[in-house]
Amino acid sequence: MSGSLLVTGIGELVTNSPGSGDLLGAVADAAVAIGDGVVVWAGPEADLPDEHRGGASIDVGGRAVIPGFVDAHTHLVFGGDRSDEFARRLRGESYRQILAAGGGIHATVAATRRASDSDLIADAAARALRMLASGTTTVEVKSGYGLDTATEVRMLRAAAEVDAATPIDVVPTFLGAHVVDRGSDRDDYLRLVVGEMLPACAPLARFCDVFSDEGAFTVEEARIVLEAGLAHGLRPRIHADQLSHTGAAALAARLGAASADHLDHATPEDAAALREAGTVAVLLPGASFSLRSSPAPGRMLWDAGVTVALATDCNPGTSYVESMPLVVALACLEMGLTPAEALWGATRGGALALEMPDRGWIGPGAIGDLVVLDAPSHLHIPYRPGTALVDTVIKRGEIVAGLRPEADR
Ligand code: NIG
Ligand code: FE
Repeated sequence: MSGSLLVTGIGELVTNSPGSGDLLGAVADAAVAIGDGVVVWAGPEADLPDEHRGGASIDVGGRAVIPGFVDAHTHLVFGGDRSDEFARRLRGESYRQILAAGGGIHATVAATRRASDSDLIADAAARALRMLASGTTTVEVKSGYGLDTATEVRMLRAAAEVDAATPIDVVPTFLGAHVVDRGSDRDDYLRLVVGEMLPACAPLARFCDVFSDEGAFTVEEARIVLEAGLAHGLRPRIHADQLSHTGAAALAARLGAASADHLDHATPEDAAALREAGTVAVLLPGASFSLRSSPAPGRMLWDAGVTVALATDCNPGTSYVESMPLVVALACLEMGLTPAEALWGATRGGALALEMPDRGWIGPGAIGDLVVLDAPSHLHIPYRPGTALVDTVIKRGEIVAGLRPEADR
């Protein structure tokens, strides 16, 4: 799927182009030309060369245009839901208590094993299409609710089906080391992950992730899994220092991981290590919001020079959040990022976390993934939390979603 489209009448164009002075590389009164799914020109409309006129075009009437959101951390494929646990947590039980008692991730594992392939695919595709309608054009999707080889493989195949069946690009991650399966011996389970799941899942994934925390895997266990993943060609990323400070962010830096995610308990020393390693900090404010816990120190990480990305962590337990605009608002209001920093993190930061340099920005050579906001400025995203502000979504130069019916565009 790819198309050619000229977008004119852009009141504010967020390019994220490096070297333009301000972080967002914003251009007023702009136009963007997309040819065969790739941006071929972007800049002030007054400078638009004639060669880009004459084909399909839309005038967005002074609205703001941003790059498509890149959601770099989700658990999009799962069976069932955990609304009952949500209500229990509001009455005082903790996430860790529920997990230790065999609920939490284990409850979703049981529901995922029971679900048919077609239900897993249909439910995940429905979530992906809602994400697309809120401006997400690329989404990372993890396995990790199978905890046996057959179900981990089914989850990654379902992720591939969502990629094929919807306009959204899906980036698959193997998370066999999410928690130790109930009733399994720890060492046996690790041997299963490394010896059987990884060889079966590696051809279906691009990254290998581990949940390293109290109640999940130790830093040493995470190292073993991630090094085995590397041997199978999977780049590492880690659920790090979410519930407690375990040292997993430091491990991410030592391994040169693509990202360290969550980081609610990260320290200034962790920040220095991540910056030196070039490991992206993927922050998930929907999780701390839903758990009513302290958010990650986003301001500290940004000021320390770490590359920061923002993602939904969409999952049935800690963050059933599909909306990147809501995540941008939470990053501003709960973590103290500026609107520009938060938007950059949700677009360019996410692309860097997924090691996809062709997206998260708008300029010649970038993928033609654009979001037209029903607002004059990107500031409206955090300023109006929870409001549907996406007017039109353009994926590889084709209009794929939006608020307005086709006839009104
Ligand atoms: O990113 N922290 C571990 N994994 C998920 C939660 C998964 C779940 O509770 O189902 C997370 O928050
Ligand atoms: Fe997660």
